[in-house]
Amino acid sequence: MLVDTYGRVATDLRVSLTDRCNLRCTYCMPEEGLQWLAKPDLLTDDEIVRLIDIATGTLGITEVRFTGGEPLLRPGLVGIVERVAALDTRPRMSLTTNGIGLKRTAPALKAAGLDRVNVSLDTLRPEVFKTLTRRDRHKDVLEGLQAARAAGLTPVKVNTVLMPGLNEDEAPDLLAWAVEHDYELRFIEQMPLDAQHGWKREGMVTAGDILTALRTRFTLTAEGAEERGAAPAERWIVDGGPHRVGVIASVTRPFCAACDRTRLTADGQVRTCLFAREETDLRQALRSGAPDEEIARIWRAAMWGKKAGSGLDDPTFLQPDRPMSAIGG
Ligand code: GTP
Ligand code: 5AD
Ligand code: SF4
Repeated sequence: MLVDTYGRVATDLRVSLTDRCNLRCTYCMPEEGLQWLAKPDLLTDDEIVRLIDIATGTLGITEVRFTGGEPLLRPGLVGIVERVAALDTRPRMSLTTNGIGLKRTAPALKAAGLDRVNVSLDTLRPEVFKTLTRRDRHKDVLEGLQAARAAGLTPVKVNTVLMPGLNEDEAPDLLAWAVEHDYELRFIEQMPLDAQHGWKREGMVTAGDILTALRTRFTLTAEGAEERGAAPAERWIVDGGPHRVGVIASVTRPFCAACDRTRLTADGQVRTCLFAREETDLRQALRSGAPDEEIARIWRAAMWGKKAGSGLDDPTFLQPDRPMSAIGG
């Protein structure tokens, strides 16, 4: 098991497959992109499958989520999913993607054993999409979403970050659209994980703002706490159901006490938390021939050192060196 000193048990592993992305969302990356990881530094497909085998076989991981950057840019993705699905200790598998390329890959991902996808979409307006992501790919995302649902990668969840002056007025329209198309919409509070270090608490659209805006058009009833478990999203039943809307309020309503996550970066570092300032190198151990038990021991020791929470409310809070796109969200 992966236990920490606060008694939390990590059962959910997030694996970043690449730090690259084909969008440039303003809250994430600068126009020119970032200094990408070099190919030899990335874990190979074999190394990723081996780590997932160890995580599910001896460390109690039952859920694996593939992230990026943009995970669909990883050439071996379908093969990785297929090999993980063939493990004796097969975990549930999901993917968090910007949706571009999903139109082409959704059926193969489903056939390989992927259970579901979460797709990022911040706006219903193509022009706003272009401003927010600096790329004209709105149509591709909508097509990707449809393809995911058609392929049975369900429930399809949609992640939305609201940005002041850009799409902050779209919350009710987005919810109406999500209900109509049967996607589960979640609004995410912007976190200080942008490469440009431009985040300001005052400039952020909060969970409170979002709920107030939604209630101008919908009746929202809070879901029971027992249904939430360790999920980052707090959920509300929309107009009596069956649809739900979620809010991931990492800043104003943190949920660290229930955290069940461990993370692996594309270059093989364990991160105990999105906001952790330390990492633990598994790649070096893998490449120097360490047996499974040794890798498991290093991973357990890393998680034992997990901090109580994000530290966002701490006056000495410092953003991690790695941006969101290189951590995996
Ligand atoms: P589901 O299991 O489908 O509900 O996924 P999820 O919401 O955990 O994952 P997803 O990849 O869709 O992430 C949605 C948002 O939640 C992103 O902004 C993530 O950065 C954020 N997130 C995911 N895990 C954590 C976490 O442990 N802590 C915090 N603070 N945010 C997280
Ligand atoms: N704060 C909150 N969410 C973010 N995402 C990317 N950067 C940030 C940030 N700084 C979102 C993406 C995607 C998910 C993985 O995280 O939009 O939906
Ligand atoms: Fe877990 Fe860290 Fe996120 Fe809190 S901020 S929920 S501890 S990953």
